[in-house]
Amino acid sequence: PLVTTGELITEAAAARTAVPAFNVITLEHVEAVVRGAESAGSSVVLQVSENAVRFRGGHLLPLARAATAAAERAGVPVALHLDHVQDDDLLRGAPDAGFSSVMYDASRLPYEENLAATRAAADWAHARGLWIEAELGQVGGKHGAPPLDAHAPGARTDPGEARAFVADSGVDALAVAIGSAHAMTTRTAALDHALLKRLRAALDVPLVLHGSSGVPDGELRAAVGGGIAKVNIGTALNIALTGAVRQHLAAHPGTVDPRHWLAVGREAMAGTVTRLISVLVGP
Ligand code: G3H
Ligand code: ZN
Repeated sequence: PLVTTGELITEAAAARTAVPAFNVITLEHVEAVVRGAESAGSSVVLQVSENAVRFRGGHLLPLARAATAAAERAGVPVALHLDHVQDDDLLRGAPDAGFSSVMYDASRLPYEENLAATRAAADWAHARGLWIEAELGQVGGKHGAPPLDAHAPGARTDPGEARAFVADSGVDALAVAIGSAHAMTTRTAALDHALLKRLRAALDVPLVLHGSSGVPDGELRAAVGGGIAKVNIGTALNIALTGAVRQHLAAHPGTVDPRHWLAVGREAMAGTVTRLISVLVGP
């Protein structure tokens, strides 16, 4: 069934575990995430990023409707989240499109501007019953930026600043920069667990890990143990999809019907979802 992100986060926090959140680009991603979560017996968040909406010609509804339909018939609780929103028009389209939560991303701006924009977004979101996540510090690797940017110490989230940011903006959750980076195709990120501990102690909202595809299993588990309540995963699905399709087409050069390779790619993504969920929340 379709549930809200807020419900899933609250439950996960009570159980001292994390909500797995996967970014979807195609209908096959949507189906794979739901199937993979069903196999794992876990609830899940389907995330649509502003980038994915742009890939759909700026239209939110095609993916949103697919995700809503898949969530409603899913055998596990599924929530819809709009991810990395910078565009205010897109933000305003979220509630009608079935999203119960948004990540408003003004982290590229200087502190005061990030705070002002995020506070306005939070006020707007809360008036419509949306759960809102924001980012402070910078998880690198967005929009083709070099993925290892986030390893620069200056990009890390400062606990004192984060405490003031959450209090002054009123957001429900915070994405923190602790050493992960977006779009990594190797799982070599080393997280700063001491910083996570300080952030956890300084903040009383759920913390979100972005760029989780580049984080090794043990580090992911340690992050959840250290208080990360939502784990965002995108690139890992794309690695599975593209790798499986590449292999299939190389082995079957005569293939024409896209259903053959889409099925193979979808299966590979579902397997990745199930495996990563078992890493995060246990088998
Ligand atoms: O918000 C989305 C996530 O941070 C995904 O990052 O594609 O590196 O796993 P990733
Ligand atoms: Zn992200």
